[in-house]
Amino acid sequence: MHVLVSGGAGYIGSHTVVQLVAAGHAVTVVDSFANAKPSVIARLNILTGEPIDVRSFDLTDRDKTEHLFAHEHFDAVIHFAGFKAVGESVEKPLEYYENNLESTFSLVRAMRRHGVRRLVFSSSATVYGADAEVPMKEDAPTSATNPYGWTKVMVEQVLRDVGAADPTWRIALLRYFNPVGAHSSGLVGEDPSDIPNNLMPFLAQVAVGRREKLSIYGGDYPTPDGTGVRDYIHVEDLAAGHIAALEKLASADEPVSTWNLGTGRGTSVLEMLHAFERAVGHDLPHEIVDRRPGDIAQSYADPTKAETELGWKATRTIDDMCVDTWRWQSTNPDGYP
Ligand code: UD1
Repeated sequence: MHVLVSGGAGYIGSHTVVQLVAAGHAVTVVDSFANAKPSVIARLNILTGEPIDVRSFDLTDRDKTEHLFAHEHFDAVIHFAGFKAVGESVEKPLEYYENNLESTFSLVRAMRRHGVRRLVFSSSATVYGADAEVPMKEDAPTSATNPYGWTKVMVEQVLRDVGAADPTWRIALLRYFNPVGAHSSGLVGEDPSDIPNNLMPFLAQVAVGRREKLSIYGGDYPTPDGTGVRDYIHVEDLAAGHIAALEKLASADEPVSTWNLGTGRGTSVLEMLHAFERAVGHDLPHEIVDRRPGDIAQSYADPTKAETELGWKATRTIDDMCVDTWRWQSTNPDGYP
């Protein structure tokens, strides 16, 4: 298949590009490089053994998006592109709604016009909202606590309506839990442009000396050790979930399918810290501070639906995630050049 990967220079997109090429697909990346460094492409060329076809523009530009579809034939699209920082979305709600919704409208319009009806969308477990029961199942009600989360809820709804209006669409809504880790080569990984908000990149920057210590947000949650529990999933397992979903869409009965991509296992902040310390080989400075507003005590997937319907299962352990993150961070202390 010829697959268009929006946001293919980003963290999850780049790992998926490598697996798509390895699975024999032709790939075109479209990325605005607003939050990704162009040097990731050179790494992808090394890992895939071929020059990746890259188009550098913002999907909110409808003319450029239309032009791309008018000149290339795609069999499917994987749509990763979007703004993703929760705190920033609270500061700049309009920018988040505009960017994440308009890029999707522009993309889906061009797909419709050119008869491309197979789409995999990057959603998030954040759509289960603050009051969801664990383990989280796909049929749970959706909600959000910040503009970023609402853009995911809204795009899911738009795509469900598109599928209802024209049942020839085959759309996968993939709800990711907490993606971490890096490619085993250490050539690609997560490279936040600012101070990391998420646990794993922050830990990695503490380990490499870019941050003084880890602040653990809350030690009094109703969890086994009092710290927050999440379902961390290795980015390579996550990328494999996209290939499985893309292939499944060819034979899917319904226009729109929703799949959780998680491991089904919860890990606390302290457990993750200790696993990272094992990977690095020494203790890391940390302190327990107040809870972060908006955080929930625990979040983990019921991954049964993806296992049954996609034949996909996450296999990598927390230690694998930490070892791979540390290989990436220690060999690229400042991220991509
Ligand atoms: C966060 C977002 C979520 C988004 C996801 C993307 C919030 C409130 N939620 O999820 O919407 O989809 O990232 O990956 O931002 N922690 C610390 N110290 C830190 C950083 C995190 O103790 O410096 C803790 C958190 O309290 C939490 C766990 O580590 O218990 C994971 O946090 P994080 O990596 O930010 O992910 P989420 O909050 O689950």
